[in-house]
Amino acid sequence: MKIQFRDVGKEFPVRDSDHTFPALSGVTLDVREGEFLTLVGPSGCGKSTLLDLLSGLTEPTSGEILIDGAPVEGPGLDRGIVFQQYALLPWRTALANVEFGLEAKGVPRTERRELARHYLDLVGLRDFEARYPHELSGGMRQRVAIARSLAFDPDILLMDEPFAALDAQTRESLQEELLRIWEATGKTVVFITHGIDEAVYLGQRVAVMSAGPGRIRTVLDVSFDSREGDLRADPRFGEYRHEIWTLLREEAIPVG
Ligand SMILES: Nc1ncnc2c1ncn2[C@@H]1O[C@H](COP(=O)(O)OP(=O)(O)OP(=O)(O)O)[C@@H](O)[C@H]1O
Ligand SMILES: [Mg+2]
Repeated sequence: MKIQFRDVGKEFPVRDSDHTFPALSGVTLDVREGEFLTLVGPSGCGKSTLLDLLSGLTEPTSGEILIDGAPVEGPGLDRGIVFQQYALLPWRTALANVEFGLEAKGVPRTERRELARHYLDLVGLRDFEARYPHELSGGMRQRVAIARSLAFDPDILLMDEPFAALDAQTRESLQEELLRIWEATGKTVVFITHGIDEAVYLGQRVAVMSAGPGRIRTVLDVSFDSREGDLRADPRFGEYRHEIWTLLREEAIPVG
């Protein structure tokens, strides 16, 4: 198993009090090597918290997280992360931001530049390589962040609503591109999204979380006879979507 969450809990201290707030509780989840897993759940249920734990940026309060059978003990070059909010270095151009991770890996300068250009091209920003983050739109910044994590070519790709800020056209082409890259490279991908369609379209399995505190409610297998043609028009697609929608609706906080 590539990634294992074993009975993981995460509590945050509550400011000006002795209490803690349970963001995650009893999370048990396995992700197979080379799998594309999508994660959906109501806002605030702990999706980003779960990804932060996996990235090694924070530590669980209880339980353990294993990668290739070994406990996560901090960030590592095996994992690349695209954050919910674009995290670019403001003093570097788009191109230099994409090159950043490649420097850490020790890729030689010319190759680095070539790779960075290739991935900027892929996200449609060929003509914007010399721009600084503040000279780009929000969606463009997010695309630079995506190019950076793809160029870095990590074993495990962690993505926190990476396409949320993009227009529908760009989102669809990046979804396709991501699937193509995933199929070609056999990376393990954990992808958080608010979009049920996106979860079904991308995921081999969809993990549905519940709130208060966050848990894995169900993990749904998604499979289609063929991925050719318009997947979204496949009757199965609608069935999966409805199943997840129903689960999420049960999670919605009652009004009044
Ligand atoms: N550093 C922190 N300190 C205190 N509480 C936190 C911290 N980070 C997250 N939380 C709380 O933990 C819960 C889960 O937050 P998280 O960001 O993981 O949710 P999410 O599922 O990613 O939500 P969204 O879909 O809106 O991005 C929330 O109630 C949030 O307020
Ligand atoms: Mg989040």
